[in-house]
Amino acid sequence: MADKIRPVRGMNDVLPDETPAWQHLEKEARRVLEGYGYAEVRFPHLERLELFARSIGEDTDIVEKEMYTFEDTGGDTLALRPEGTAGCVRAGITAGLFRGQTHRLYYIGPMFRHERPQKGRYRQFHQVGVEAFGAETADMDVEQILMARRLLSDLGVGGLNLQLNSLGKPEDRRAYRAVLIDFLEARQDQLCDTCRQRIPRNPMRVLDCKVEGCQAVVRDAPAISDHLGEVSQAHFDRVRNLLDAAGVPYEHNPRLVRGLDYYTDTVFEWTSDQLGAQATVVAGGRYDGLVTEIGGPSTPAVGFALGIERLLALMDDERIPGKAPDAFLAPLGTGVEASALALAENLRDRGLRVWYNCGGGSLKSQLKKADRSGAPVSLVIGEQEMADGTVLIRDLVTGDQQSVARGEAAEIVRTRIG
Ligand code: HAM
Repeated sequence: MADKIRPVRGMNDVLPDETPAWQHLEKEARRVLEGYGYAEVRFPHLERLELFARSIGEDTDIVEKEMYTFEDTGGDTLALRPEGTAGCVRAGITAGLFRGQTHRLYYIGPMFRHERPQKGRYRQFHQVGVEAFGAETADMDVEQILMARRLLSDLGVGGLNLQLNSLGKPEDRRAYRAVLIDFLEARQDQLCDTCRQRIPRNPMRVLDCKVEGCQAVVRDAPAISDHLGEVSQAHFDRVRNLLDAAGVPYEHNPRLVRGLDYYTDTVFEWTSDQLGAQATVVAGGRYDGLVTEIGGPSTPAVGFALGIERLLALMDDERIPGKAPDAFLAPLGTGVEASALALAENLRDRGLRVWYNCGGGSLKSQLKKADRSGAPVSLVIGEQEMADGTVLIRDLVTGDQQSVARGEAAEIVRTRIG
């Protein structure tokens, strides 16, 4: 035998026993998001590297060290998308969508980051992402939070904590950055190596470092929410008031900064205490400057992405609909296949889900397979049934069986499945 080819580390196959949960999640996501007026967009998994560098930020972990980049044979430097917002905005600009109207868009698909794989953190992972363009008012931020809450609840996932913060406008952040750098520089010796390096380039990232020493330092750090300009303060107050009015509990976390540079004003994350270190299931916020940053007309925007693998880890299998067929057809003996295949097709023409056992086998082994399929009934065509044009219908729960004309089989199966 030839050597096995190993899969790429951190990239997983989704096998048939797992796909029902994925499909259920995706179906529910489409139903809920479309119910709020979101329409699906699909854009390439590959984009020019520059798109991500400019939007996510040169000094972020993602752009600095986590992207899969390569030069194609035409000499263009491309990258596998590490997230969806940049590509979604690029697609909207390319299509000339941003002309003042509101657009609510969503996408579902894989993202790629060269992170250290661990539970809940993969190199190919999947997101349901939503992006709303054209509304600068707080109702759009809050509608998205309500929508995420509804999706989580419809998927049976409870017990998540919503954290909220405001990062203000770029000018608020510039002023805050200077204050924060002063604070951190005075305590350099208590910070980890990575954070020490972050101080001049991206000091806000120090605020969400997980190292204990760093956390102790930032506990007393100045908070961005104390440095918001008037407009941002009013926006944040409005978001909080609307959340209160809608009865959505949240925690204002002044250290919530997010790992991507494009955010302005509102940022939020839903975390679970059942996921260990990779606790964030849904994350997002407002990014009013991004469309212009990548060459489009000034357009306010807000969005979030939900990590599918992390959400699946929290979902209750009981809610996932089964895939069992309505009937399992067992051809028994030689020379019966043509009639058995014809009966299976006839039942499918009438809208029934029929699994046909290819490959033969004894009655016992075929009934075992029928049981495993979850079908309520098994249909058997053997030599006797061939001779008299009938089919044997066996109830797999009670064990009762009856021989009927093939033309009646569909009706009987239908009655049995209710
Ligand atoms: P993000 O926080 O980088 O934001 O990712 C969003 C979610 O994707 C995370 O909360 C997590 O559930 C999941 N996720 C991220 N990285 C991994 C990984 N390596 N393995 C498994 N799951 C992961 C964004 O991507 C933004 N584009 C969200 C957004 C949309 N903001 C505005 N619009």
